[in-house]
Amino acid sequence: MRLEGISAAVTGGASGLGLATARKMVKAGATVTLIDLPTSQGEESARELGDAARFVPADVTDEQQFAAALDAAEEAGPLRALVHCAGRGARIRLVEKDGSPGELSAFEDVIQLNLIGSYNALRLGAARMARHEDVDGERGAVVLTASVAAFDGQIGQIAYTASKSAIVGMTLCSARDLASKNIRVCTIAPGIMDTPLLGRLREDVRQGLEQSVPSPQRLGDPAEFGALACNIVENPYLNGETIRLDGGIRMAPR
Ligand SMILES: NC(=O)c1ccc[n+]([C@@H]2O[C@H](COP(=O)([O-])OP(=O)(O)OC[C@H]3O[C@@H](n4cnc5c(N)ncnc54)[C@H](O)[C@@H]3O)[C@@H](O)[C@H]2O)c1
Repeated sequence: MRLEGISAAVTGGASGLGLATARKMVKAGATVTLIDLPTSQGEESARELGDAARFVPADVTDEQQFAAALDAAEEAGPLRALVHCAGRGARIRLVEKDGSPGELSAFEDVIQLNLIGSYNALRLGAARMARHEDVDGERGAVVLTASVAAFDGQIGQIAYTASKSAIVGMTLCSARDLASKNIRVCTIAPGIMDTPLLGRLREDVRQGLEQSVPSPQRLGDPAEFGALACNIVENPYLNGETIRLDGGIRMAPR
């Protein structure tokens, strides 16, 4: 799917990996709708990207809000690409240091955003794409965001790992489910990326993280995520696959 001239939507597009993806897409000639929470930096981010970007506030877990955001994206043309980056982590241990069991509601919150939100975005986005004519044999492409935590779950990441490994599990299943509609689905599993979240870390902690990456020995650049997301959309033979983008890191237990 060529990016030039298409309408694309990026969830979590106000910040970090989503914003970096939107930046690459705009550069490649797409019109991009940033879908993010009303409390996010979405307006500022869209302004920074220029006329080819707009911000539409919506919660990805909410059916009506997300459908309305896709309506807005389709004002720029049929939706052809959806990159779903909205998500977050959480620290929960099965048995906390004080002996209490890990909180159930905290686990549910992460599953609600990372897993249910991905399902909601995927199903509503794909249903839009399925209505449109084929372009060069395909109707659209969806990119989901997992994490290396899907494979290398660390201590305290029980909820995050559960949600992200479910996204990995959904990837081939969705690609098969949507094959008859000529819609592709791939997932990116990033390692440690240099997003605003990590900008707040102490310098020594940051250096320790950098040293844990085999090569290149640094954090991932969000632009590298954006480039891969764009390539997945553009490359018609990538489908049903989760791609680690991690400099070769394998996370230690803690
Ligand atoms: N940064 C990393 O090192 C890293 C590593 C692996 C995976 N990831 C994953 O990448 C994705 C993006 O992470 P990031 O580092 O860019 O984070 P970020 O915090 O910079 O961006 C996430 C965005 O998602 C938005 N968001 C949160 N809940 C939402 C909701 N309910 N509806 C709509 N938008 C919502 C936030 O407002 C924010 O703008 C997440 O799914 C994260 O789990 C990040």
